[in-house]
Amino acid sequence: MSSPSRIIPSVLPADFSALGAEVSALCAAGADRIQWDVMDGVFVPNLTFGPDVIAAARPHSSVPFEAHLMVTDPDRDIARYVDAGCDLVIVHAEACPHLHRTLGLIRDLGARAGVALNPATPAGTLAHVLDLTDLVLAMTVNPGFGGQRYVPAVEPKLVELRRLIDASGLAIELEVDGGISDATIAGAAAAGADAFISGSWLYGHPGGKRAAVAELRAIADAARGRQQREVA
Ligand code: DX5
Repeated sequence: MSSPSRIIPSVLPADFSALGAEVSALCAAGADRIQWDVMDGVFVPNLTFGPDVIAAARPHSSVPFEAHLMVTDPDRDIARYVDAGCDLVIVHAEACPHLHRTLGLIRDLGARAGVALNPATPAGTLAHVLDLTDLVLAMTVNPGFGGQRYVPAVEPKLVELRRLIDASGLAIELEVDGGISDATIAGAAAAGADAFISGSWLYGHPGGKRAAVAELRAIADAARGRQQREVA
């Protein structure tokens, strides 16, 4: 297995009245990064937070922040999310008519560039922008809300994305988001994912956030290890 699985909590289930304390607790729980689900109420039905909220939370956690922009016009505000302290900015391919230019803009601003694909969007969408991509986010739910059911039909797309990434020889993370739990993470990991977003299952874990992060990482590492031994 090339590198340990990365476990990235989503703050969507967090107490929005105490986001500084929330991100501090996620950092203490061993999160590799923290994901901010930015929603504009148009690209997805829900409306969440903007760059000023993220900037306010930035001093309270030492782990990298990633902004998942579920918005209709990501180009307009990318710079604000970088200025707010996001190390990684993820845009939806479905919202970017000039995706090649948008990814270049993210990198020019000094952040890592991510591309998210909704469940129905094919892997081949990324074939000509991998050289500008640091992370692919394969949505395993239809974006907009936490607590949804994992869509296993995305797993063949994960296999295809893993082949694309490996064939490119580029260091690109393959991340999944939506319905990730102790019951679903092994399937996503075996299909090729190496970074995992979890919100409701992680926040609802009876043993707390640290136990949840550790459990997800252990299951994912084991599944990836088995998969790599099988193909060796
Ligand atoms: C969907 C959101 C959620 C969230 C994780 O737009 O992106 O996927 O991050 O939510 P859970 O883990 O509760 O499915």
